[in-house]
Amino acid sequence: LKQPIKVTVTGAAGNIGYAFVFFAGQGRLFGQDQPIDLTLLELPNSKRPMMGTVMELDDCAYPLLANIRTTTSIDEAFVGCQVAVLVGAKPRGPGMERKDLLSENGKIFKAQGEAIDRYADRDCKVLVVGNPANTNCLIVQRYAPSIPKQNFTAMTRLDQNRADSILASKIGVHSRQIRNLIIWGNHSATQVPDASQGIIMNYPQPGMVTAARGAVSNDKWLTTEFVETVAKRGAAIIQMREKSSAASAASAACDHIHDWFIGTQSGQIVSMAVISDGSYGVPEGLCFSYPVTCQNGKWQIVQGLQWDELTKKRIEVTTKELIEERDLALQSLAANTK
Ligand code: NAI
Repeated sequence: LKQPIKVTVTGAAGNIGYAFVFFAGQGRLFGQDQPIDLTLLELPNSKRPMMGTVMELDDCAYPLLANIRTTTSIDEAFVGCQVAVLVGAKPRGPGMERKDLLSENGKIFKAQGEAIDRYADRDCKVLVVGNPANTNCLIVQRYAPSIPKQNFTAMTRLDQNRADSILASKIGVHSRQIRNLIIWGNHSATQVPDASQGIIMNYPQPGMVTAARGAVSNDKWLTTEFVETVAKRGAAIIQMREKSSAASAASAACDHIHDWFIGTQSGQIVSMAVISDGSYGVPEGLCFSYPVTCQNGKWQIVQGLQWDELTKKRIEVTTKELIEERDLALQSLAANTK
């Protein structure tokens, strides 16, 4: 068997972390021939549920789960880490303003960036799930300057998977037949789901491929209701479940890491928030969700796509929001260090 890949999960005893570690144990990240070593990081007051989770992981006896470590020390958590899945974050409390949320999370992700910079594998790859995910990712990246910029990503895959499922049910096909729906920008209500490149495999008949635009009888639905339904799906789930999405978020995190490491299929586009190189006029250094393809453990932004007027306007809004988040987070970090 291969050498285990060292994976660190923060917030491992939380809703998403609890689902994620079992999926990881089942081989969802790197395939069925790749063992992993798991390191779980939690806050001291969640140490017991973390230990309980480990007891359950032991009882699963997953063949691919070589070793499990737990810690409440941020320094210990990232020693030799090859893949960091940063789920733990400060949730928005009652009456908490966006500024405070950005400030509290800024502190957490700065400290994690510094620890990754110091202790992690030099090619450590990072997925930020904890919200505000894009801006948290930007902060981690800034404070881990010795790790390549391309190694820092934030998750918009759940939004992509939601878009696939919503379009699939509209047309009456299976989600796996839907490809190349794009999420641009921030993982927030301003995200821009874009069906312009979407295709449906084996539709209307096996062997045929149809553009999403042609498959929905009312084209306007794709640029209006579809976009809103995707962006509000998280809120709709909270209303029904009375808790936020957990297993679907954990599953999307597995999809994100899997495609990044194993590669996308030929002609397949997925969405990942990455540190912008200025593509599509987005300010360099913002963590922005783009359409990407992946090969040999590296992502590449799909270039040259055209936006219609409505999409362009929406992208301006999400970009502006990300700039504001970045400025608020960096200002509060600068104020803290004075
Ligand atoms: P949760 O509150 O159930 O779990 C979070 C866990 O993180 C808790 O056990 C807590 O003790 C731990 N934690 C907090 N700060 C930590 C730190 N500094 N170090 C280590 N552990 C820490 O929350 P849940 O439902 O698991 O969600 C986690 C995050 O993921 C939230 O910020 C949520 O908004 C975000 N999220 C992101 C999605 C995305 O698509 N990017 C989708 C859904 C949720």
